[in-house]
Amino acid sequence: MCGIVCYIGEKSAKQILIEGLKQLEYRGYDSAGIAVHNGDRIEYCKAVGKITELEAKLNGRKMEGHTGIGHTRWATHGEPTEINAHPHMDQEKKLFVIHNGIIENYYNLKKKLEKDGVVFVSDTDTEVLAHMIARYFDGDLNKAVRTVMSEVEGTFGIAVIHQDAPGEIVIARRGSPLVIGVSDNGYFAASDVSAMVRYTKKVVHLKDNELATLTRDGFAISTAQAKRVERDTETVEWSAGDTDLNGFPHFMLKEIFEQPSTIENAIRGRLEPGEGVPKLGGIMPVWEKLKSCRHIVIVACGTSYYAGYVGRYCFEKLTEVDVEIELASEFRYRKFNFPPNTFIIALSQSGETADTLAAIKEARRKGASLLGIVNVVGSSIARETDAGVYNHAGPEIGVASTKIFTSQLTILTLIALLIGRHQTLPLTEGTEAIREIMALPDRVQRILAQANHIQAVAEKYHKYPNWLFIGRKFNYPIAMEGALKLKEVSYIHAEGYAAGEMKHGPIALINPDMPTVAIAPKDDMYDKMVNNIQEIKSRKGPVIAIITEGDERLKKIADDVIEVPPSLDFLYPVLTVIPCQLLAYYCADFLKRDIDKPRNLAKSVTVE
Ligand code: G6P
Repeated sequence: MCGIVCYIGEKSAKQILIEGLKQLEYRGYDSAGIAVHNGDRIEYCKAVGKITELEAKLNGRKMEGHTGIGHTRWATHGEPTEINAHPHMDQEKKLFVIHNGIIENYYNLKKKLEKDGVVFVSDTDTEVLAHMIARYFDGDLNKAVRTVMSEVEGTFGIAVIHQDAPGEIVIARRGSPLVIGVSDNGYFAASDVSAMVRYTKKVVHLKDNELATLTRDGFAISTAQAKRVERDTETVEWSAGDTDLNGFPHFMLKEIFEQPSTIENAIRGRLEPGEGVPKLGGIMPVWEKLKSCRHIVIVACGTSYYAGYVGRYCFEKLTEVDVEIELASEFRYRKFNFPPNTFIIALSQSGETADTLAAIKEARRKGASLLGIVNVVGSSIARETDAGVYNHAGPEIGVASTKIFTSQLTILTLIALLIGRHQTLPLTEGTEAIREIMALPDRVQRILAQANHIQAVAEKYHKYPNWLFIGRKFNYPIAMEGALKLKEVSYIHAEGYAAGEMKHGPIALINPDMPTVAIAPKDDMYDKMVNNIQEIKSRKGPVIAIITEGDERLKKIADDVIEVPPSLDFLYPVLTVIPCQLLAYYCADFLKRDIDKPRNLAKSVTVE
């Protein structure tokens, strides 16, 4: 969603801001803008559409200055127009603010300001911040921001500059991430480290209800009550190359092809083959409680939710734990009766998804212990949970999640195996599981080697407007994830169904114009899946079957097949999802979609 990047230092700010905004493009946005303080006054520029539009408008404009703020906006309050784009400013055009999040009481604040004669020019909630901070400003920008923090409700990550406070940027957060970057030639602030990883890997995370003043010589963090905070810098693992395409036409394809190594990263140093037990240092702080736990609720959104869904089957297979899976956005509206020693597992690539964050806060209130499986180190969900496991998968730039999904599946399996081995799972099953987990990267590689074949299947079917995905048990969530992937990037309508539900509705849709992707590896659901496929074929529905290598029976029945190597039933999803990802990618490519930034979608959904 919206992105923030700020710079103050020896270098000229304009180009650094533009480069930073380009690194944030993947988050999803519909307009952008920057403001630069040139020592005397502040110049700004905004544009609707891509950063290239902003660059075109800036072409020929010098906009010199060493202090600046930049923003990509994903419209919530007000359409994506230039007026609604950030930065927003006060009436005198002296104060400029950029904002991620939503000011929930903006309507009342706006009415109050209007009564005092303030004229609003945009439809945004952010504009109230500009007018309010400007009104409180008496030479101390940090104090003015602090005062406004106590009056606004909602979520925000903001950055503010003022004409009469040259040489400083004030940033503040509540519920919306902000990271300070420390480099040899200046200081950065951004909503996401990828905006500054080109310039520095040394970062300091701001916590909720904290603010900071950045100058050319340093930064000072304080709480909203003006209490000074000392915090050491951390070094991020990501490098500038991680955010490059490296010869791939799209990040989505690059990330699909990274999966052998991201799965490897998820298991590196975490397996003890002889003992049949994984080692997960990150969950040791809660291990005594976790090993005897009998109830887990997995919460997540989007693709992470479907990973959690597979995780449920996995826990049921390997442990004695009862597992529920709940959409984070629904979690708060349920009435859970948590038995004692319930664990919540929150899955999130970004670690910033607003609903997932809200769900774990609610679960904490109800007394549950919290585990996180998160990719972004130091993110809000990583901080809010009691313990957890990082994906170590590098930045995921494509809006449609791919490599994180298989990484999440791998880590969920490790956690289930660890608990299972301390409950009733025998050694032989533990060692077999570990052997098979270690084989996953090579097996994924074997599927990727069939990319040309999968591309040919996509070429044959990409013009069909409606698709069905079906699977059972471990592969039921893969059917849902396969359908999600296809609709996200190709805009083809697709539904993911439990194959056992076919007769309760979806079979009515089957005809020669409705292809079905049937996920039917050789597990204990195989025979039932073959029956479903036969039923579809009897109604002349085209079938693309994802099968285990050498399955001659389904090769004869299905119109097209994509083979995956043999595996254990609970590990098949790591393999069967790869053809679904590639099918979605190639269909979108044939349809010339904006694959890495599909319309209306955002990488990180930081508002409810
Ligand atoms: C957005 C993204 C999805 C992602 C979901 C959950 O919708 O477009 O790709 O799966 O958020 O994000 P999270 O960061 O919590 O995994």
